[in-house]
Amino acid sequence: MIVLVGFMGAGKTTVGQLLAESLGLPFVDSDHIIEQRSGRSVPQIFAEDGEPAFRALEHEVIVGLLDGPDLILAVGGGAAEHPGTRERLATAQVVYLEVGYAEAMLRVAGDEYRPMLHRPGLDTVYRRRLGVYREVATLTVATDGRRPEAVSQDVLAQLVRTP
Ligand code: S3P
Repeated sequence: MIVLVGFMGAGKTTVGQLLAESLGLPFVDSDHIIEQRSGRSVPQIFAEDGEPAFRALEHEVIVGLLDGPDLILAVGGGAAEHPGTRERLATAQVVYLEVGYAEAMLRVAGDEYRPMLHRPGLDTVYRRRLGVYREVATLTVATDGRRPEAVSQDVLAQLVRTP
């Protein structure tokens, strides 16, 4: 099980798909499973039920996926803030894709699909999460100014060293 964590715009989905191709494993994005299960989009869930309800559902979905067959699993940028999720991530290989705040904002600018972009004090959320990502990571790769292919190669090289 390889789990990708990092802030919005870190490239978890793009890099995860590349890794899945290289490693011959299925790729799953927890946000997609949440949407399938609830029959609603992530922004809809935030708007109708609020963020705490989304976080509870996110935790449930991720635990279910971690209990299943091996995957490359990209989780939402806030997933690792849930203590129960963090606990469960302790048994997985967790890849932290690092992205600077400014670059993350450039990558996701104007994306209406990301309700957290409307959150005041998002920079504070970002800073708080850095410690959380570092805590769960078994390996860390920088992404600023790099193409997803280079990031994916870097992850693969590090995985060989830390099987
Ligand atoms: C969130 C990130 C999103 C999604 C939701 C909340 C966050 O996933 O789970 O909008 O709190 O940072 P991505 O990190 O894939 O954008």
